[in-house]
Amino acid sequence: MTSSTPKSPLAAIVLAAGKGTRMRSSRAKVLHELLGRPLVCYPVELARALGADPVVAVLGHQHEAVEATLLARFGAGAVGVVEQTEQRGTGHAVLLAMPALARMADGMVLILYGDVPLLRRETLEELVGTARRYGCLALVTATPPDATGYGRILRDERGHVISVVEQKDASPEERAINEINAGIYCGPADFFREATLGLGTGNAQGEYYLTDVVARAARSIGVSAIEAAFEDVCGINDRQQLAAAEATLRGRINRALQAHVTFRDPASAVVEPDVEVGVDAELGRNVSLRGRTKIGHGARIDDGCVLTNTEVGAGAHLKPYTIATDSVIGPGAIIGPFAHMRPGTRLGPDVHLGNFVETKKTVIGRGSKANHLSYLGDTTIGEKVNVGAGTITCNYDGYKKYSTVIEDGAFIGSDTQLIAPVRVGKRAVIGAGTTVTRDVPDGSLALSRVAQVERPGYADKVAERYAGPGNGASRRPIVAAKPAVAAKPAVVARPAAAAAPVARAAKPAKRLPAKASSKAKARKPSPRAR
Ligand code: UD1
Ligand code: CA
Repeated sequence: MTSSTPKSPLAAIVLAAGKGTRMRSSRAKVLHELLGRPLVCYPVELARALGADPVVAVLGHQHEAVEATLLARFGAGAVGVVEQTEQRGTGHAVLLAMPALARMADGMVLILYGDVPLLRRETLEELVGTARRYGCLALVTATPPDATGYGRILRDERGHVISVVEQKDASPEERAINEINAGIYCGPADFFREATLGLGTGNAQGEYYLTDVVARAARSIGVSAIEAAFEDVCGINDRQQLAAAEATLRGRINRALQAHVTFRDPASAVVEPDVEVGVDAELGRNVSLRGRTKIGHGARIDDGCVLTNTEVGAGAHLKPYTIATDSVIGPGAIIGPFAHMRPGTRLGPDVHLGNFVETKKTVIGRGSKANHLSYLGDTTIGEKVNVGAGTITCNYDGYKKYSTVIEDGAFIGSDTQLIAPVRVGKRAVIGAGTTVTRDVPDGSLALSRVAQVERPGYADKVAERYAGPGNGASRRPIVAAKPAVAAKPAVVARPAAAAAPVARAAKPAKRLPAKASSKAKARKPSPRAR
C-alpha cells in the first residue's frame, strides 16, 4: 500500500438484488435500517471512502425503492445501477455489472454485498492493497463458530487457496472445514470480465456461482486470502442478525467515542454512524443521537434525550428527555427537561427553554427564555425576551400558518395568546392573561384582561339556593372540614368531642372552631366568609 507507483483505478460492485426471504418483510432486505442507515448504504459508503469510482449496485427486488434510497443519500450520478431481473446467482450479478465498468479497462474491481454492513475499512484497504500489489484475486475469509451455510475455503498442502465449495455442493470432509468465504473480493477488472463469462450452472443450485472464479484465479493470477473477524463479515439474513449487528456497531461507535466523550452508560446510549460528538461532551443513559446530529465540545446531554439531525452548541446543557429534530441549539443554551424542538427551531446562544415547551420553525435570539409550558410556532423572537409560562402562539387558523414576531427585550406575561400574524415591539410588555390580536408598539403595555369583580357572600348564597335556608350551613363546612379530617379522622366522626382534642393541636386550631361549631349547628355561618 505504501508503494510510490500510482494506484490503479478502483471500481466497486455492490450485490444487492436478493429478496432477503428470511427477513419476512414487505420491504427489500437491504432497505432495512441498521442504526438509522439502510443496509445497502454501508458498502456503498465504504467503497466511496476507498476512492472507488464508479460504484455500481446490482439491484433486483424493489430496485426502484433501493435506487431512490441510494440517490437520496449519495446524490445523482454517485452510484450506478444495474438491474438484475432474475436472481441467477452471484456470478450472474457480477457479469451483468461488468459493462458498467467499461471505462476502466485496466483497474481493480472490489465486490461487496449489500447485506454485509460491518466490514471494516482497514480490512478492505488490505484487500485492495494486496490485489493491487500482486495483481491477484484477493478475498476475505473468516472462521465462525458455526460454518453451516457458507462456502468453504479449500487450501492446498502449502496453504494456498485453491477454490471455494458451497455448502450444498460440499462433501462431508469439506463441510468439516471451518474457514469460510465472506464473499468479498478484489481483483483485476480484466480477470473478472473473462472469468464471469466462463461461468456455468453445473452445481447443486443451478446458479452462476461467483465463487467458481476462485479456482480459475488459483490457476492463473493467484489467490490471496485476507482473514477477518467473523463479526465483521457476517451478513444480515433475519431480524435477529439485524439486531445483533446493531448492537455490534453501537458498541464499536461508542468505544471509539470514549476516547474523548464521557458516557454515563455506553451500553444504553445510541449514537448513529454519521453523528459527531465534540471533546468533553457528556452523554447520559438512554441518549439517542440520530442522523447528522453534531454535539459541540463540553455539551451535556442528559438521560433520555433524543436528537435527530440537530446541532448542539458548545457547553449547552440538555436536561433529561429533551427531544429535538432538524434543529440548532446555540452554545450555552439550557434546555428541558421535557422540551420538544421540532424542525426549523434555531436557538441562539444562552437561550433557556424549560419543561413542556414546544417549538417549531422558531428562531430565538441570544439570552431569551421560555421556561414553562409554551407553544412557539412560526415565531421569531429577538434577544433577551422573556416568554411567560403558558404562552401560546396561535399560528394556525385551520387553513394556513401565520408568523409571530417578538422583538428584543419584550416581556410576555404568563398565559398570553398571540394570535398570528402579530408583532410585539421592542421592550413591549404583555400583561398576564392577554390575548394579543394587534401589533404592539415598542415599549407599550398591552393588556386585554377582563376587569375583575368581587361579590361578597356569594358562596353562602349559592349554598342556600341548593340546600334551603339554614341548611346551607351543612354544605359550607365541607371545605373547612378537609384538613381536620386528614389530621384526625377519628375525632371528626364524633362532633361533640371534636373541640377539645383538636384545640390542643397547634396547627389546625384556627380552622377547627368553624368546622366544629358548624357540625354541631351551634351558630349560623358567618356572612364575612367568602
Ligand atoms: C455467497 C457465496 C458463499 C459465501 C456467502 C457469504 C456464492 C455462490 N456463494 O453465498 O461462498 O460464503 O455468500 O455470505 O457466491 N445476489 C444478487 N444476485 C443474485 C444472487 C445474489 O445480487 O443473483 C446478492 C444478494 O442480494 C446478496 C449477495 O449477492 O447481497 C450474496 O447472495 P447470497 O444469496 O446471500 O449468497 P450465498 O449463496 O449465501
Ligand atoms: Ca447470505
